[in-house]
Amino acid sequence: MTDHEASPVQAGIEADCTVGPPDFALPEAQRQGVYAAIYQRRDIRRFRPDPVPDELLRRILEAAHHAPSVGFMQPWDFIVIRDKPIREQVKALFERERQAAACFFDEPQRSQYLALKLEGILDAPLNVCVTCDPTRAGIVLGRNAIPETDVYSTCCAVENLWLAARAEGVGVGWVSILKLPQLPALLNIPPYVIPVAYLCVGYPESFPERPVLEQVGWRRRMPLTDVVHWNSWGDRS
Ligand SMILES: Cc1cc2nc3c(=O)[nH]c(=O)nc-3n(C[C@H](O)[C@H](O)[C@H](O)COP(=O)(O)O)c2cc1C
Repeated sequence: MTDHEASPVQAGIEADCTVGPPDFALPEAQRQGVYAAIYQRRDIRRFRPDPVPDELLRRILEAAHHAPSVGFMQPWDFIVIRDKPIREQVKALFERERQAAACFFDEPQRSQYLALKLEGILDAPLNVCVTCDPTRAGIVLGRNAIPETDVYSTCCAVENLWLAARAEGVGVGWVSILKLPQLPALLNIPPYVIPVAYLCVGYPESFPERPVLEQVGWRRRMPLTDVVHWNSWGDRS
């Protein structure tokens, strides 16, 4: 496919203008698929060792690469890590940070936190580090007022990757219990590039119906009405 051809998923974007306002909604089955991926996506920490086929990985990365980005700067890079010794070193970084972070909780939360499985770095067949290169596009249209928009854009790519993976039956777990500044040396990341997300990717043991942190009583999902404000902050009527 060249840059100028429509991608396969663009089929059907012509609006039906024959009656009423134009209807750009996706066909019902596709719409359901989008919501299914959103609601059934989970953070995965328990993986099966089966390898993720290269073509499937390519599709997931392509979906990430189609994320929105400020000024279309596409600041992301994806470092795909299969190498076990590198992953063992990342796991050691995680262990150190996990212990350090435990100090911030009082009992009984500290013990509960330490008992949780919060990564699948070595269990997953591959890890992906998603980075943000703030220098990618020179003077970036739209980034002037909010410099962090390049990192926000990178997070959009992570979410695309996460949802596409869910659609493919592949699990993704985000590991942030890591001192990210120590990753560049391990992964040879240039000093001006920001490591944004460290992801474990592979076939999961299961996709839990609810977030694991909710299942174990750590936190519950807040009602939508608590987080939607009408016209100004605090008006939830
Ligand atoms: C920025 C970010 C960092 C996260 N870091 C971790 C982590 O270090 N370890 C972990 O187990 N889960 C991590 N998570 C996953 C969250 O715990 C999870 O998204 C949340 O509990 C809701 O569960 P769900 O993703 O399964 O719906 C992270 C998620 C995000 C968005």
